[in-house]
Amino acid sequence: MRRATTAQPVDATAATVDEAPLVEVQDLHKTFRRGAGFLRRGGTAVRAVDGVGFSIREGETLGIVGESGSGKSTTGRLLLRLLEPDSGRVRFAGQDVLSVSRSEFRRRRRDMQMIFQDPYASLDPTKTIGASVGEPLKIFENLSRAERDDRVREMLGRVGLRPDYLTRYPAEMSGGQRQRVAIARALSINPRLVVADEAVSALDVSTQSDVLNLMRHLQRDLRLTYLFISHNLSVVRHMSDRIAVMYLGRIVETGPAEQVYLEPLHPYTRALLSAIPVPDPLAQRSRPKIVLTGDVPDPAHPPAGCNFVSRCPLAMSMCHEVDPGLEPMRESSAVACHLHTGNSR
Ligand SMILES: Nc1ncnc2c1ncn2[C@@H]1O[C@H](COP(=O)(O)OP(=O)(O)OP(=O)(O)O)[C@@H](O)[C@H]1O
Ligand SMILES: [Mg+2]
Repeated sequence: MRRATTAQPVDATAATVDEAPLVEVQDLHKTFRRGAGFLRRGGTAVRAVDGVGFSIREGETLGIVGESGSGKSTTGRLLLRLLEPDSGRVRFAGQDVLSVSRSEFRRRRRDMQMIFQDPYASLDPTKTIGASVGEPLKIFENLSRAERDDRVREMLGRVGLRPDYLTRYPAEMSGGQRQRVAIARALSINPRLVVADEAVSALDVSTQSDVLNLMRHLQRDLRLTYLFISHNLSVVRHMSDRIAVMYLGRIVETGPAEQVYLEPLHPYTRALLSAIPVPDPLAQRSRPKIVLTGDVPDPAHPPAGCNFVSRCPLAMSMCHEVDPGLEPMRESSAVACHLHTGNSR
């Protein structure tokens, strides 16, 4: 069987600094049962997250990128315990997140907030913007109505919305404005970590860049730490200090954002980059083009050996047999590919 050598280095994405990271994730696993019957018996095991590890320093942004179904959202949800992992470890500010009870964790959740792709789904259409943004304050802080409204107005100002939006309803707003409200809501209780899952993917390009710039400003002003999830590598590069590339539930490459973007090592990362048009035709020509054929394999039936082998234009015979595992490379990078780990010689 596959996966004899699969253990990923614990701190695969850790940068070399002395400060302890705010978030530390080790060897996270989550399997779903597809087509399972009563009590979830039977069915096929889908390894949505298969041994993921990373760390994020305070004030830093780690971007997670990968095609649909690669396990990005599941990773984000596991981190915030919106889903329970099968195994693995999550530490937040030095504390073990998974060993505390769910009710104790809910109290700590104020430090960890999430922004989703579709603010229309995450905002209650029957509530005013004031009520939605004020809701977390109601749960976590003991404020009078007037104090709460003041805080909500302040938050609306921070995200670039006028105070009179307080009495409006989500349906009266544009997609970009709704996403600003969702950001105001998530930030109203001063979290330290924000997991943004495809936060701008539903917006048109110019609104996307407005919201991304807003998120960067807020990060600087409020010293926020981001886990920024997107299928779009250009967006992730724009936002991130470091990038982790996911494929079939695993991190296949990680490193500083510019390095991953300009000198990608894994053929999968190169393929993701090939799909992005470059304005400069010379740069476009000098960039090695890798076009992927076929779809992402079904995670219920991953290929033997390297899990990218079925789509890799550079696959060697050993790639069909031996799982490369994520190996440390130059400057706090790591890659899971036999072409780079010296095994091919
Ligand atoms: N609740 C669930 N039950 C069964 N399978 C699930 C569930 N959630 C996710 N999966 C499966 O787990 C895998 C990873 O899903 P996930 O949503 O994490 O991917 P993603 O990278 O966020 O994709 P996208 O870019 O489409 O949002 C997929 O194969 C998906 O079908
Ligand atoms: Mg997703």
